[in-house]
Amino acid sequence: MTKNIYSNRLPVVQQLREANELSEYPKTVSDKRIILIDKTIAAYGYRRDALLEKLHVAQNIYGYLEKKILLHISEKLKIPPSQVYGVATFYNYFKLKKPGSHAITFCLGTACYVKGAEEILSAVEREFNVKRGETSADGKISIFVTRCVGACAMAPNVIIDDEMIGKATKETVLDKIRSLL
Ligand code: FES
Repeated sequence: MTKNIYSNRLPVVQQLREANELSEYPKTVSDKRIILIDKTIAAYGYRRDALLEKLHVAQNIYGYLEKKILLHISEKLKIPPSQVYGVATFYNYFKLKKPGSHAITFCLGTACYVKGAEEILSAVEREFNVKRGETSADGKISIFVTRCVGACAMAPNVIIDDEMIGKATKETVLDKIRSLL
């Protein structure tokens, strides 16, 4: 089963509040990465207005911002969890779920949309049984959508991991993804 990372935002905020895992974390977790985050927080003098920088560092270290990390930062900065979560969800850059091994990003800006990006995206969703904003049950692919990536002349554009596929077709995108799995 797959989970939509963009849905149920309010329940997640509630979960953050109810989780009450702060007192156990990181004491029960043998995770040295948390020390790096704490050093960053200290380096910024525990400033609340440097929350974005801390979230950046945390994501660079972990690859995504899991709930426990958000709670930890919330506790360290004495900022309500809902506020930390609100900032993390406001920016598309931040990922709240562990991404799949391969990231497939579709540009759905106007030029790409009119050139058929939506149809390619739907074909990928059907074939790999994963919806936009989600990660496949086997953790192999995540599908993201974005707006104009600045290459309209090559529309429709699909980015598979670090490779930009311009003038993409259903066949080229499906074949490329199949070759990765
Ligand atoms: S709309 Fe897709 S690159 Fe511009």
